[in-house]
Amino acid sequence: VTEVFSTHSTVDGRLRIGIAGLGRLGRRHAEALAFSTRHVDLVAACSPVEAERDFAGRELGIAADRLYSDFDAFVADPNLDAIVLVTPTSLHADQAIAVLKAGKHVFIEKPLALNLPDCARVLAVAAEHPQQVAMVGFVRRFDPSYRNAAAAVEAGEIGRPFLVRSQTCDKNDPDGFFVRFAPTSGGIFMDCSVHDIDLARWLLGRPKALRAFATGTIVLHPGLAACGDVDNGLAIVEFEGGARAVFYASRTLAHGHETTTEVIGTAGKLLVGEHAARDRVIRSDASGVGHAVLGDFHERFEAAFAHEMAAFVAACRGVAPLSLTLSDAMEATRIGLAITRSLQSGMPEAV
Ligand code: NAI
Repeated sequence: VTEVFSTHSTVDGRLRIGIAGLGRLGRRHAEALAFSTRHVDLVAACSPVEAERDFAGRELGIAADRLYSDFDAFVADPNLDAIVLVTPTSLHADQAIAVLKAGKHVFIEKPLALNLPDCARVLAVAAEHPQQVAMVGFVRRFDPSYRNAAAAVEAGEIGRPFLVRSQTCDKNDPDGFFVRFAPTSGGIFMDCSVHDIDLARWLLGRPKALRAFATGTIVLHPGLAACGDVDNGLAIVEFEGGARAVFYASRTLAHGHETTTEVIGTAGKLLVGEHAARDRVIRSDASGVGHAVLGDFHERFEAAFAHEMAAFVAACRGVAPLSLTLSDAMEATRIGLAITRSLQSGMPEAV
């Protein structure tokens, strides 16, 4: 395992961070960096959208002269140690390379890139800058429940794990955000299932993926057809050595967000995230027994996002190494692409 580990920042130093992208998720990362992440100062932000820059000045207290509309000027800011990229996926590779070449640490939201040459370019530039951290945001690796499950697998508690069944299912958004987002997201498997793909590799011990088969359907958002996407997708992946994974991604659940993962081994199984309960309250009355549901991914993974950013900051400050590598992120893209090719071709595809 290649550790992505920086030693050039001091343990005592505070990290001066800038963020690019203040949309659906970027705004959340920015608020966490400004108000609740230890050892950092959020001192700059970049967005082409004026209203987003205004938000960063007004709500996050970033000085007006450090609110950038131009990405190149932002990256050249000499008083930044690290940059967090929460921009459209199609921009990740070029932006990450620019950050690394400017001598700064980089956090890149998932997925790393939408094709393998772009992934390889980032890995090559990162290898030329071994003192800088480059981390991709596979947030579930930092979720307490997934960490417990991974530790149990590692300790041999379920014997030899051989099957991961994992789903990422969002509540239906009648406004159709996903239809506008789809052209730059890589499609439902690259956008949603890439998390499940990374989880499967992690929980199964990083086996080599061999073959993928996928199918899908559009049940509520016909606008997705224009870019070859679906609002419900299913995939099966075969790994070397006999392990298998089954993925389900949906944009159309009626009740709420449901991320659930089952890992099955020769001596037991683990189930993470069943029922999507918002809290620990179960209400019983004349209509039945029930609980409130999670509204979206952020509500489910808020704690994990905080642990994830703490891990990035710790790596940048030279305090703790990362076990999540850029090559893990490249493998997730490789598998996601084979699944997406299979969705288009209707045939099994070699990974
Ligand atoms: P979004 O469309 O809401 O936000 C994108 C942001 O990037 C906007 O603020 C936009 O103004 C900005 N932007 C566009 N071009 C830019 C440029 N050249 N320079 C700087 N900023 C630019 O998208 P969303 O949902 O926030 O997704 C952003 C990234 O985060 C995607 O890569 C997505 O895959 C990832 N993501 C990860 C999640 C997770 O669970 N880890 C969940 C949601 C998104």
